[in-house]
Amino acid sequence: MAGVTISVLLLLCGYVASEPARFDGHKVLQIVPHSLQELQQVLALHDLYDLDMWRHPRKGNHSMDVYVEPEKLEPVLGALKTIGAHVKVWIDDLQRLIDEEKSSNKRSFQLPYTSQGRNPGFNHEAYHRYSSIVQYLRDVVTATQSMSTVNASITTMGYSSEGREINVIKVFRGDGVSRPSIFIDGGIHAREWIAPATVLYFINQLVYGDEFDFAPQLLDKFDWYFAPLLNPDGYEYSHTTYRLWRKNRVEQGRNCYGTDLNRNFGYEWNPAVGGSTNVCSDVYSGSQPFSEKESQAVETFILNNRQNMMAYLTYHSYGQMWLYPWGYTSALPADWQDLDAAAKVGTSALSQLYGTNYVVGSSTNVLYSAAGGSDDWAKGGAGVKYSYTIELRDTGAHGFVLPVNQILPNNRESWRGLAEFALSLNTNRGFHRG
Ligand code: ARG
Ligand code: ZN
Repeated sequence: MAGVTISVLLLLCGYVASEPARFDGHKVLQIVPHSLQELQQVLALHDLYDLDMWRHPRKGNHSMDVYVEPEKLEPVLGALKTIGAHVKVWIDDLQRLIDEEKSSNKRSFQLPYTSQGRNPGFNHEAYHRYSSIVQYLRDVVTATQSMSTVNASITTMGYSSEGREINVIKVFRGDGVSRPSIFIDGGIHAREWIAPATVLYFINQLVYGDEFDFAPQLLDKFDWYFAPLLNPDGYEYSHTTYRLWRKNRVEQGRNCYGTDLNRNFGYEWNPAVGGSTNVCSDVYSGSQPFSEKESQAVETFILNNRQNMMAYLTYHSYGQMWLYPWGYTSALPADWQDLDAAAKVGTSALSQLYGTNYVVGSSTNVLYSAAGGSDDWAKGGAGVKYSYTIELRDTGAHGFVLPVNQILPNNRESWRGLAEFALSLNTNRGFHRG
């Protein structure tokens, strides 16, 4: 009996102090069906083997990225051969990519920062942990106290299920004038590390000035809210334990954890549309709309500040897309042409620097339908006119594990896209509130 107790204890200890999960030989395949019939067969195969679709097929482009564990590889490749779909290996060994990410991230911390990272205390060319992100926000607030043209303040919007702060930083002129506002968040999905990095860069450019000199105009025109890390528990878990974690970390029972926060928002919430009622699923929608503390935090903050809120942008990865509502239906909002035109200003500005191409459209029509997204709620529930989900780099070569040397180019082009998008908005006309 003592033996049993000891092995249970060892198991528990092993669990607590466990090494991060490994992904040796795990692959990501790009699959290109040649016809609708082949597409159907590939989708059936995806269901049969319970594969993780990293990038979904969309209208007019049936290619998709599918993550395959080693034990499924042989049968899956065999079946794909029979179907006849074209297969290319995007990622041959996910663990190698993760190891490379880890070592280049470490190296990046040791290097002197380039002129792009103008805040001397923070390296914008690395993926940071939760605590250093919180510290950065506090440092920005302190720094603006001795600046005459920009001000910043932090509000804790709420706490995650494990008790971490969910912070939003307001960056504004500080001259007593209240302006129309833009709310930007990142990190709703844990594994999409480039998203918080991008939002932190935006804060930096606005506060410390930017190479294109957009900051003064942007501060004259808007008050800015940035919530760089909406899902801190999932983010930390993806750093310490499981690089591919997507959801939050709320305990569900059945030995399963997490709700997909981007299926949990309360506008036309419906697990049957792109979500799930299975607590173990990666797209579990939650027990009811806004069942999660993290999504509640966003709801409360936006409802309290929506007066004059003109735009909501939520940053994700990957796929290079600038998406507008709706995600719950293929129908379009009445003012979709305004959203489409403004998004195109953003993507064409973005492409100027490195020629990076983004696709613009409604999320259902260019991606897939999925209800309960934060973008749908911001528009339909909170009445924020210009609501978008932006899927950052890349198009699949590295997927969620975007190499450290792409952080800066990604951030620079994204900043340019955001700035020109924001400057193109007409703030005089007033805007609808639903
Ligand atoms: N990749 C995002 C997701 O699956 C896209 C969200 C688009 N918006 C939406 N309301 N479905 O969550
Ligand atoms: Zn995402």
